[in-house]
Amino acid sequence: RPVGDLSGHSVLVTAGATQEALDPVRFLTNHSSGKMGYAIANAAYLRGADVTLIAAPNTQKAFEGIKIVNVISAQDMFDAVMENAENADMIIKAAAVADFRPAEYQDQKIKKAGKDSICLPLASNPDILQALGDRFGGKKMIAGFCMETENLLENAQKKLKKKNADFIVANNLTNAGAGFGTDTNVVTILSKDGKTEALPCMSKDAVANALLDRLIRAL
Ligand code: PMT
Repeated sequence: RPVGDLSGHSVLVTAGATQEALDPVRFLTNHSSGKMGYAIANAAYLRGADVTLIAAPNTQKAFEGIKIVNVISAQDMFDAVMENAENADMIIKAAAVADFRPAEYQDQKIKKAGKDSICLPLASNPDILQALGDRFGGKKMIAGFCMETENLLENAQKKLKKKNADFIVANNLTNAGAGFGTDTNVVTILSKDGKTEALPCMSKDAVANALLDRLIRAL
């Protein structure tokens, strides 16, 4: 197994887009490909870390030595993260987690018959990053992502404080080369100690290593 500056560290990463089922054939989701989270998990592994990756559905590839826990919904991801967080000293939440799920799962396929429209009541999902910050803030290194289409830095700053995270990696979907599905990202890294660093457009692998550099320095 690789040896590097993260040898002896245990890193928990989340990746991908959760799926929130309406009925046996349909679900709500988002456009996350999992590339950002897998880039982080793979980079941490190559730097010697013990890596656990909590993966919502995606088609990315991780190194064989990485422990992968496959999950579907936000609730599944919450359960898997909480079960694996105790052993980690760094937690990085790159997954795009659905904030809401259909309030009621229908056991049988919802039929169209005679309806012009339907209402779909939604219920809140647990906020995993918040739960981690509440439980482990100040004890483990916690990095969240922040994906916005407007007011990026303002929202990122709010998340950093409210969620008791050490770092927030902010990306704006409307920037060229940033966000979902691309091999690159454009991020600004905000840290608990007040730094705001705007990085240029970089490969997701390079963003992953830049973030890991900062986590290890802050440990
Ligand atoms: O997967 P790719 O295609 O490579 O795209 C990468 C990405 C855009 C998905 C990634 O870079 C990213 O920004 N991930 C976070 C997306 C997101 O859900 O952002 P948010 O601002 O809604 O959430 C803020 C943080 O809270 C995130 O760390 C998220 O994992 C976490 N969260 C959100 C909701 C929830 N119920 N629980 C959470 O833990």
